[in-house]
Amino acid sequence: MAKIRVAVVGAGGIAGAHLRAYAAHAERCEIVGIADVLESAAREKAETYGGAVFSDGVAMLDALRPYALSICTPPKYRLPYVEAAAARGIAVLCEKPPARTLAETGAIVDAMSGKLLQFAFCHRFHRPLQAAQDLIRGGALGKLVQIENRFAFRFARAGVSWFTDADIAGGGILIDTLVHSIDIFRALTGDEIERTRAALSSTLPIRVEDSASLLVQGAGGVIGSLNCSWVTPVAEAIVKIHGTEGQAVIDYNAEAGLRYRLAEDENWTTRRFDAPDRFVAQADHFLRCIESGGEPLVSGADGLAVMRVIESAYESVGMRS
Ligand SMILES: NC(=O)c1ccc[n+]([C@@H]2O[C@H](COP(=O)([O-])OP(=O)(O)OC[C@H]3O[C@@H](n4cnc5c(N)ncnc54)[C@H](O)[C@@H]3O)[C@@H](O)[C@H]2O)c1
Repeated sequence: MAKIRVAVVGAGGIAGAHLRAYAAHAERCEIVGIADVLESAAREKAETYGGAVFSDGVAMLDALRPYALSICTPPKYRLPYVEAAAARGIAVLCEKPPARTLAETGAIVDAMSGKLLQFAFCHRFHRPLQAAQDLIRGGALGKLVQIENRFAFRFARAGVSWFTDADIAGGGILIDTLVHSIDIFRALTGDEIERTRAALSSTLPIRVEDSASLLVQGAGGVIGSLNCSWVTPVAEAIVKIHGTEGQAVIDYNAEAGLRYRLAEDENWTTRRFDAPDRFVAQADHFLRCIESGGEPLVSGADGLAVMRVIESAYESVGMRS
């Protein structure tokens, strides 16, 4: 099979992870183009990863006719690229959050109807999380009771970039980061979230939230406490899963990505995981879906389900009508 010709639009921070991941699969795909409104950003990435440089992403699609496109722009600019890709029959790996609103997410999903659309909820490909899913499915943790999660760090770009401009980002940390938490809760429980209570706050002089907590409950009764902050200095990225027969902890900053302790255990069992990291595994899955015509693990329906929770959380605090 000929190599899959991939292109990337939006050549900032996360584009680097997509490009690195495609480069790790160089035997199966070729990076043919990189576009960014800031041409210098695209050029800088192309110096490392190859590909032609464009300042206009749609012109890139017309010139190169890639088979697949990673969309790594800020949320506001995704839909036009999705529509352009859909019109040209190009498969899309779209960064998170899926869009600024549920309606915009719906437009993305509709545009890609019948075509390959994968949302980049990369934690689905985090091996400690997959191992925790195996523990849960195998019944080792018993019946799930509670899931606690915290993603927090001091984010230097908060207040000085598009990340805190609601028109571009759709909101603050709730939509930017807590989308991951919601997706992780759904992936671990296998349930849709039926109830949501949100609390948002801002310490910075910004018009969106820099900290967010969500209390959720899945259809099966599992309770989730999901917490994110851009203003606390001690970086934390942790998911604690509590079941009637044991506890598992996914700690992104620990050497052992997963530790668990069952009811009869005196000590924790720790598990370390080697490469591939979640971005390389995510790209592998996307390429495999193209090669085999398979359904993506993270589909349009997942994007819609996550955005329904986001929307109801913003509505509950009066930030959406
Ligand atoms: N999956 C993850 O874990 C993860 C991690 C980081 C960021 N992200 C997401 O990826 C998205 C991008 O984040 P980032 O950190 O790369 O941002 P960034 O600001 O570093 O990069 C965005 C790039 O898009 C370019 N751009 C803006 N408008 C454009 C347009 N219309 N056409 C083409 N290029 C355009 C900008 O010039 C910039 O280079 C965000 O939504 C963010 O939430 C996801």
